[in-house]
Amino acid sequence: MAKTALDLYHKYFRDRQFERLDMFQMINDRFNIQRVLYPGSFVHITPSFIFSDVVYVDNDKQANLFFSKPEVYPFIAQNKVYTQEAHVKFHFSDYRNGFDEVEDHFDLLISQYAGFVGQFCKQYLKNGGLLLANNSHGDAGIAAIDDDYQLIAVFHLRKGKYSISISNLDAYFEPKSSSQITKEYLTKLQKGIGYKKTASVYLFQKIQ
Ligand SMILES: C[S@@+](CC[C@H](N)C(=O)[O-])C[C@H]1O[C@@H](n2cnc3c(N)ncnc32)[C@H](O)[C@@H]1O
Repeated sequence: MAKTALDLYHKYFRDRQFERLDMFQMINDRFNIQRVLYPGSFVHITPSFIFSDVVYVDNDKQANLFFSKPEVYPFIAQNKVYTQEAHVKFHFSDYRNGFDEVEDHFDLLISQYAGFVGQFCKQYLKNGGLLLANNSHGDAGIAAIDDDYQLIAVFHLRKGKYSISISNLDAYFEPKSSSQITKEYLTKLQKGIGYKKTASVYLFQKIQ
C-alpha cells in the first residue's frame, strides 16, 4: 500500500487528473441526487466531494484498508462542496452477491471500469434513478439494450474536461457489425463491442 491511505487516492486519481469531479458536478447541477451507490469504487472517493451520502462497495483488500483509515474522512470534509456533513459508508463485498442496503433506495448508481454493476445492482436504484456507466467492460452496452434503462445523456471527455450532451442520443449504441447483440453475448465478452458513435460515459435512467 502507498505510505498513507490518501497517497493511494492521489496516486490513482488526483495525480492522474482522473477524479472526474466536473462530471459528478454536472449531474448534481441537473438532477436531484440524494443517495449514491458506487460498487467497484476502489478508493475513488471523489463522488463524496459532490454528493453528501455515498455508499461504496468493493472486494479489494486495499480498498477495505483505505476506508478503515481515519484520515480519509477529514480529507473528504476539506474537499466537499456542500455544507451538510458527509455520510460515507463502505461495504467490503463482492457486489454480485448483494450487500446490506435497501432496495429502490438510491438516486444514482455509478459503474466505472468495474464490470456489470448496472445489472447486478439495479435493484438498489429507485425507479427514475440514474445509472452512470462507461463501456469499458460492456456495462453501458448492456444497459442500452435493457428495457429497464433509457439513455438520457452522454459525456464527452476532451482535453481533460467533461461536457454533457443530450442531442442525437439515438445514434449511440448502433453496433459497427450487423450481428444481433444480446445481453448474454456482451456479458460473456466482458469488454464491450465497437459502436458507430461513442461517448466517454453514458447516463441512463431506470424507467421500470
Ligand atoms: C479498475 S478499478 C475501477 C475503480 C473506480 N471505479 C474507477 O473508476 O476508478 C475496478 C474496481 O472494481 C472492483 N470490483 C470488480 N469486480 C467487483 C465485484 N464483483 N465486487 C466488488 N468489487 C469489484 C475491483 O476490486 C476494483 O477495485
